[in-house]
Amino acid sequence: MLTPQLNLFKKSNPILGTVLSNERLTPAKGEGKRPSQEGESAIHRIKIALSHDLYPYLIGQSAGVIPPGEDQAKVEKGSPDTSYAVRLYSIASPSLSFGKTKDSIEFIIKRDNIYDTEGNLLHSGVCSNYMCNLKPGDQVTMTGPAGKKFILPLADFSGDLFFCATGTGIAPFFGMVEEILEHKLIQFQGNVYLIYGAPYSDEIVLKDYFESMAQKHKNFHFIQAISREEINPFDGGKMYISHKVKELASIIKPSLESNGRVYICGGPKGMEKGVIEEMRIAMNSSESYEDFKKSLESKDQLFVETY
Ligand SMILES: Cc1cc2nc3c(=O)[nH]c(=O)nc-3n(C[C@H](O)[C@H](O)[C@H](O)COP(=O)(O)OP(=O)(O)OC[C@H]3O[C@@H](n4cnc5c(N)ncnc54)[C@H](O)[C@@H]3O)c2cc1C
Ligand SMILES: NC(=O)c1ccc[n+]([C@@H]2O[C@H](COP(=O)([O-])OP(=O)(O)OC[C@H]3O[C@@H](n4cnc5c(N)ncnc54)[C@H](OP(=O)(O)O)[C@@H]3O)[C@@H](O)[C@H]2O)c1
Repeated sequence: MLTPQLNLFKKSNPILGTVLSNERLTPAKGEGKRPSQEGESAIHRIKIALSHDLYPYLIGQSAGVIPPGEDQAKVEKGSPDTSYAVRLYSIASPSLSFGKTKDSIEFIIKRDNIYDTEGNLLHSGVCSNYMCNLKPGDQVTMTGPAGKKFILPLADFSGDLFFCATGTGIAPFFGMVEEILEHKLIQFQGNVYLIYGAPYSDEIVLKDYFESMAQKHKNFHFIQAISREEINPFDGGKMYISHKVKELASIIKPSLESNGRVYICGGPKGMEKGVIEEMRIAMNSSESYEDFKKSLESKDQLFVETY
């Protein structure tokens, strides 16, 4: 049986990985559907050489990255250790890597930048920009693996899986879809529903991959919610993943009554609330939101990683 390994590498004893590739997945500023007054959404797929014998991970875990340089806030405070804090990134490659090798790890990372109302850059995130600027051959200092809950069933599983993602929350589901449907590390019988929300249709990354998986596997369902292009049929507002969950109510009830699992990942923090509330309504539950959430979590049917 597979078990998650935890924190084999820490800030005091990190591991080095060498960048193999770094590909931008979203259009350049002003070239896609996003108006340039909204800045840009720069999402990258980054592949790093790392032996799984040294760094054994399960898809769903995260890796830590220590950006190089000094944290100026710590320098100004006179802190003895001025290095940057570790940033976590969901691992996007399946437990055996794409291609069923054991020699690399991948990430889906967005430059975490803030823009003014005219689309000019105001603030840049340290680590996300460091990662998105990496070139093949560069070395990255890493910690982890981290997280032991947000993982796929560890033994043969019969039941539906609902993967609910917004933005870069798609990262773990890229690897999970590959692992469940292609690598088949466990026997799986059920449907996989990937419900993926993004502001614009060209910011749905890896769309070709997910569409080809839906063509190939009749039990894989690829559902998109494009918030700034589509309106929802319920109140005429933006289309969010919670509205897609509402539309799936008649499927969700029997699924959750028989072993189904729900995974929710991405931002903004708190976005899980709408999704879980729609699940509660679908189940005709009279429990409060909090009790419903706790009860699904205690039965290993709900896993949330929002940031
Ligand atoms: C479990 C987990 C998994 C995650 N997985 C992913 C993932 O797969 N992909 C991903 O892209 N992210 C992921 N994240 C988020 C990631 O860990 C970082 O939080 C993110 O990349 C931002 O880090 P940063 O160093 O770039 O930004 P920081 O430098 O920490 O800055 C944070 C924010 O503050 C803004 N800022 C900077 N200076 C100022 C200022 N003076 N005033 C106001 N604002 C300012 C920055 O623009 C940025 O938006 C995950 C987080 C967690 C907890
Ligand atoms: N990826 C990162 O680097 C990172 C790191 C840390 C924190 N965050 C935070 O996470 C948030 C989004 O991050 P992102 O840039 O990765 O994603 P994104 O590309 O902006 O996609 C997020 C999607 O979720 C939608 N959404 C907003 N509120 C929702 C809700 N309550 N329920 C369901 N969907 C909702 C958004 O719609 P609209 O925007 O159109 O309303 C958008 O379509 C931001 O608040 C960001 O500060 C991101």
